[in-house]
Amino acid sequence: MKKLTGLTILILLLAGCKWNPLHDAKGPNQQPSNEPSYLSENENIEQDKQQTEKPTSSGMTKEKEPPDQAEEDELALEAAYFNEVIEVDGKKEIVNAANTLALVNKTFALPVDYTPDDLVRPNVPFSFGNQDIEKSYLRKEAAEALEKMFAAAKKDGIQLYAASGYRSYSRQQEVFEAEVAQSGEKKAAQVVAIPGNSEHQTGLAMDITSESANFFLNEEFGKKPEGNWLQENAHKFGFILRYPKGKEKITGYQYEPWHFRYVGKEAASVMYERNWTLEEYFEHASKI
Ligand code: DAL
Ligand code: ZN
Repeated sequence: MKKLTGLTILILLLAGCKWNPLHDAKGPNQQPSNEPSYLSENENIEQDKQQTEKPTSSGMTKEKEPPDQAEEDELALEAAYFNEVIEVDGKKEIVNAANTLALVNKTFALPVDYTPDDLVRPNVPFSFGNQDIEKSYLRKEAAEALEKMFAAAKKDGIQLYAASGYRSYSRQQEVFEAEVAQSGEKKAAQVVAIPGNSEHQTGLAMDITSESANFFLNEEFGKKPEGNWLQENAHKFGFILRYPKGKEKITGYQYEPWHFRYVGKEAASVMYERNWTLEEYFEHASKI
């Protein structure tokens, strides 16, 4: 009884101290605590008995779990980054196709005549050598990020090769038709987008390979040091692994450890930390 009274006094004294949420900043990957947000005095005694509530570094006990403002801020996204869509021949067509966060997938298509107006050839090694061909191009922002990523990889002893970047609508048609001829329509649709629905037409996607993968674009690349390096580091340069393993039902495509999509560092880090695809990111993002 005496012990209980002492504890109660201690708690009342501590209740006078104000807990500063800024002293308990959470990283982006940390989920809000499951601890009860605030406890009445009696509940607090119970909690202390169970020793489940840890004091902060200052020795004070948390009074209240603050709303996770940091998480809200991270998921707040300007309206311009969401797809603006119109219906064309029963298909959902993206109007703001030059948006760096454009969600291009089996549901949302690009206009047939969309060509980015800032395509440049990044200064990186290509699996096909120095040929100046369409697929070596990317939009400027993505190309600069790609160069930085390749340079950082090289510093870590990882030699990457760019294999396929921008593809026009008509080139995508050829790629798709070739795949249909090889493996049939159903299988082709799991690995190659139909023209208009490919991220390659945005000029923001690059397929990447390595010598260790014999310059192929296949699942083996994901097990190579180069594929692993990209999975762990691409977000730092604004790229996401667009078609991850286990998310096939969400993306609509097979695992593609070689296909990286530029979305910018902020969005890429959010997706990396939460293990989200671009589709999942837009399910959670709030328009501001
Ligand atoms: N391989 C991806 C899905 C594309 O063709 O765009
Ligand atoms: Zn690709």
